[in-house]
Amino acid sequence: MPHRPYVIDTMISAKSIAARIEELSREIQTTFEGTDKLVVVGLLRGSFVFIADLVRELDLPVEVDFLEASSYGDGMESSREVRIFKDLRGAIEGRDVLVVEDIIDTGHTLHHVHDYLMTKKPARMKTIALLDKPARREVDFKPTWIGFEIPDEFVVGYGIDFAQRNRNLPFVGKVRFKDE
Ligand code: IMP
Ligand code: MG
Repeated sequence: MPHRPYVIDTMISAKSIAARIEELSREIQTTFEGTDKLVVVGLLRGSFVFIADLVRELDLPVEVDFLEASSYGDGMESSREVRIFKDLRGAIEGRDVLVVEDIIDTGHTLHHVHDYLMTKKPARMKTIALLDKPARREVDFKPTWIGFEIPDEFVVGYGIDFAQRNRNLPFVGKVRFKDE
């Protein structure tokens, strides 16, 4: 889909992301130490890069599963109505669960996914979002862990897209339209 031409300004470098993931993984490691039943659940598609880097920093027996929920169309605004497009493959009843999200914005997606997964009766459920835009929150939901708080800017890269583009950038960048 063609767009107004835009450029991407680096907001968080690949190096900073890697350093932060190292810190976060130590906290996650401590929280789940001793467990043999951890399932790390990535929310498709935006978390695929983050979850790949995160699980490789964990020295725990982990299973990986994915769930696809969506509140966004192809635009820049949340529709606020969250739907599950693809459910988990495995059961999580009695398991420890870590839900991995790329970015929490209005909060509708993580809030809905959290409540939905709780109906499957996990033993424990924690949530992590790489990025947090607190200024945009509409529902009161706080992830257990946050990578970086960012201002209210539209970002791409490190798994995050703009109309399905730019997911492959190794850093997080801010979209700036050339005609603005
Ligand atoms: P929420 O339901 O408003 O919290 O939206 C969360 C979802 O919106 C994230 O999983 C992203 O897929 C998407 N999203 C939120 N902010 C951005 C952004 O700046 N760039 C790209 N996608 C975003
Ligand atoms: Mg998403």
